[in-house]
Amino acid sequence: MSSQVSALKLFDLIQSHRVTDVIYVAARLGLAELLREGPKSPGELAKATGADERTLGRLLTALSTIGICARTGDGGYALTEVGACLDGSAEHSFKSWAILEAEMLSKSWSGMLETIMTGKTAAQLMGLSNSFDLMGRSPEYVDKFNAAMVELTRLVTPNVLRSYDFSGIRHLMDVGGGSGELLGPIAQQNRKLRGTVFDLPRCAEAASKHLRQIGVDDRVEFVAGDFFKTVPAVADAIILKSIIHDWDDARSVTILQNCRKALPGEGKLLLVERLMPEMPTMADEDREQALSDLNMLRGPGGLERTKGQYRELLDQSGFDLAAVYPAGRFNVMEARPR
Ligand SMILES: C[S@@+](CC[C@H](N)C(=O)[O-])C[C@H]1O[C@@H](n2cnc3c(N)ncnc32)[C@H](O)[C@@H]1O
Repeated sequence: MSSQVSALKLFDLIQSHRVTDVIYVAARLGLAELLREGPKSPGELAKATGADERTLGRLLTALSTIGICARTGDGGYALTEVGACLDGSAEHSFKSWAILEAEMLSKSWSGMLETIMTGKTAAQLMGLSNSFDLMGRSPEYVDKFNAAMVELTRLVTPNVLRSYDFSGIRHLMDVGGGSGELLGPIAQQNRKLRGTVFDLPRCAEAASKHLRQIGVDDRVEFVAGDFFKTVPAVADAIILKSIIHDWDDARSVTILQNCRKALPGEGKLLLVERLMPEMPTMADEDREQALSDLNMLRGPGGLERTKGQYRELLDQSGFDLAAVYPAGRFNVMEARPR
């Protein structure tokens, strides 16, 4: 039996994409940057952004109802702590993710019905087997995607560094390591460690620049390649963050077997992933994981796996799962070659 309360709850859920778009407009206008130094009136913000003052006032009202900013006594607006994370220069910024979500993901998600009916990714429905190839056709999409991944990885890296001891590793290779956002800080914390960031050629420039900027380019280099073909045998440990969840089991096994071939018998494989709970609840992190699972389904064709499913995948690829170290919402799964 439905009640009015239940109907209104559903009504709210149905409209949740509006929240994404309100945050997106704020990100595009740079409102968080403009409010960084203190509160401003809608008039001042309109002048700085070139927006219409009255409509901007209505956007600010909406932003205040979702906790991005708060109205001050004199009719101005101040940033909240949550809103401060929309500032592109914030330590924990999600500005690029706001842009990725609104400009790319929500557009792709509008085709979710077709994916659920066919089991095919957006790329497969367009006749392509690999969504990263599809993204590669538009360099501006690649840049937006990579910038958003950097933000997520930057947020998670301190948890990874706290949860796992990298000190016994001589040479660590980050397979699918993007611009080195994870490997860079690991090398900064472990001064003797050498490193290799392995990714598609299109990541070379950003990675070299980043590794130079954070002062580890004398020990960490970028190597371009395709992890479906081969992975260079240079490291005693390989780390993969947010890689295996991108791919279905067959492609994941190919990547993991290539890592197995590249590692010495006593080497280590580290997977940094979120784990799907056996029984997802309505908790925030379970919802995030279940929605990420659908994002993988529509996007690259992967899935969010339980610990048991990772164990099985590793087993099929010649590894034994040795330990799982929780790292915030992520986990570091350590596996050993069998
Ligand atoms: C989801 S992102 C994760 C990036 C990074 N590990 C992180 O967590 O920030 C997936 C990465 O895999 C890389 N990638 C995709 N296909 C690849 C391939 N065939 N060979 C090597 N890298 C690939 C992408 O360029 C991208 O950097």
